[in-house]
Amino acid sequence: MKILGIETSCDDTSAAVLDGRDILSNVVSSQDDVHAEYGGIVPELAARSHLESIQPVIRKAMADANVEFGDLDCIAVTSGPGLVGSLLVGVSAAQGLALRSGKPLYGINHLEGHVLSPLVGDDAVDLETPFLALIVSGGHTALYLVREIGDYCEISSTRDDSAGEAFDKGAKMLGLGYPGGRVIDELAREGDVDYYRFPRARVRGDALALSFSGLKTSLWDFLRANPEVRVEDVCASFQEAIVDVLVKRVGQAMERLSIRRVVVAGGVSANSRLRNRMTEAAQSLGAQLVLPPMRLCTDNGAMIAGAAVLRRQRELEDWGLEAHSRMSLGPKLRLK
Ligand code: KG4
Ligand code: ZN
Repeated sequence: MKILGIETSCDDTSAAVLDGRDILSNVVSSQDDVHAEYGGIVPELAARSHLESIQPVIRKAMADANVEFGDLDCIAVTSGPGLVGSLLVGVSAAQGLALRSGKPLYGINHLEGHVLSPLVGDDAVDLETPFLALIVSGGHTALYLVREIGDYCEISSTRDDSAGEAFDKGAKMLGLGYPGGRVIDELAREGDVDYYRFPRARVRGDALALSFSGLKTSLWDFLRANPEVRVEDVCASFQEAIVDVLVKRVGQAMERLSIRRVVVAGGVSANSRLRNRMTEAAQSLGAQLVLPPMRLCTDNGAMIAGAAVLRRQRELEDWGLEAHSRMSLGPKLRLK
């Protein structure tokens, strides 16, 4: 089954071709340079930039895979959640291709792409259900119960900012450019995690809830009071506050649901400290931790094609093509 996957939900234009769960190509064109001078994503520039890149990116994905449009079984595209202007570029391109080639078109939920990302590619794992999934990205931070592929419940989510936003805003305050998660990760390796204790937020009455906006404010106040700090130490301490909370919530969710399998995916799952700390925590809990390989952590077309492959194998319907900014993965399940 050959599938072309297209992803334009945020600021990466990507297309990939999969043959079953094998990745034949995965092309990602980043817009980091476009948004860097603004210190964050400018939605209109993102959409314009997708328009420029979408055709060359799709052509390259097809050429790298050595596949013709006629060889495809279907086309998959992210239809939400994300920036509507960005999503519409990918959806329109996919519709044009589907019309021209007569191939079926599948709308895919971006979050499902992240959840299932470790199940495709050379290092694909076969993961038994049920499992937990922590999605940590620029747009989202939430914990899901995956009963089956295609059957998800949201068991917790951030009350305000995502973990990726905390990294990016933190990096902006430290003058480290955009996007800043990767830079903080690198600098933190030379820093002291115990240099300063930034707050680990808790939400009264909801032990699994997440919140990162207070942490941002606390970094701002700290930097104003301490202008002469060693940036590596601040990065390490700030990152530790984010990682601590994520590791703790995953442990709590495992205990409450008596599930010992977890996927941690999304852009922030590329963070080296998070990967190490989650690995240690999983070992001590006797749990199976599944992390996507680095190239599948941040947004990419392969995870979208992969989700479509896994859904088609189970004869599940697609998510529609409406390009919604908000799109949940499943109903909320609040644990006692
Ligand atoms: O999944 P993604 O590519 O896009 C969304 O769906 O939002 O995630 C992007 C986020 C950005 O906030 C970026 O700073 C963060 O992932 N990120 C990292 C690292 N690499 C990317 N955060 C921390 N450490 C990293 N190594
Ligand atoms: Zn994403």
